[in-house]
Amino acid sequence: MLRRLVILGPPGGGKGTIADRLAGRLGEPHISTGDMLRTEVANASALGRRVHEHMNAGRLVPDELVTEITTRRMSEQDAAGGWILDGFPRNLTQARALHDALEGAGPEAVIVLEVPDKEVFIRIAGRRTCPRGHVYNLTRNPPKTPGVCDIDGEPLSQREDASHHVVEDRLAIYKQRTTPVLDFYYDEAILHRVDGVGSPDEVYARALKVLEST
Ligand code: AP5
Repeated sequence: MLRRLVILGPPGGGKGTIADRLAGRLGEPHISTGDMLRTEVANASALGRRVHEHMNAGRLVPDELVTEITTRRMSEQDAAGGWILDGFPRNLTQARALHDALEGAGPEAVIVLEVPDKEVFIRIAGRRTCPRGHVYNLTRNPPKTPGVCDIDGEPLSQREDASHHVVEDRLAIYKQRTTPVLDFYYDEAILHRVDGVGSPDEVYARALKVLEST
């Protein structure tokens, strides 16, 4: 099975959900740029203070910052045999930087989850996360006890970038900046479009089928 994967898709498209499951199946790390950046913000690090405003507004954080933390994370020991990248690259500059940094050991497959805008708004409105990043949905995947993480008992909350107008901006940026990345990987013949509508089990099964047949 392929071990160097990129998962792309609109905000709230289920990238984190599917990347997490694939990571469990393949035994490779799930590297989420959004999660790494949110950890920096939560720790109030120098980097976190620089990116907080961009993230809250739904804008991309500067390329050099996100490229540096991503490639550094990918160079760690546990990622030597593979990785599942979630949310990177998000524009052509990042795609080219990744290509240059990996020198021939780039992604073997890029899965793009296709989800209509209407579904994106519903999913993000219902999403709740715990401070350690475990993800729930009030309607589709609720925790056993309302407001409490099943796994670590931490309180659940809504992300700061979940308001309707910020989600509109994140979607617009996805269409404008990330669509060219899909063309970039299409030209490399490693892009796979997966229908992202359906239960997480159904979407995961579709993604797995693509990987098993590639
Ligand atoms: P990031 O955290 O990557 O946000 P995003 O791309 O907008 O995606 P989300 O995390 O909102 O959604 P997801 O696709 O992972 O869906 P999830 O699985 O949670 O980035 C946040 C910010 O960081 C960016 O706006 C930017 O500022 C910055 N950033 C990050 N990467 C960057 C980069 N490379 N360059 C520059 N800036 C960057 O699912 C969503 C909800 O739906 C959950 O509640 C889940 O339970 C539910 N759900 C999942 N799958 C299904 C399903 N099949 N059916 C029903 N519900 C489902």
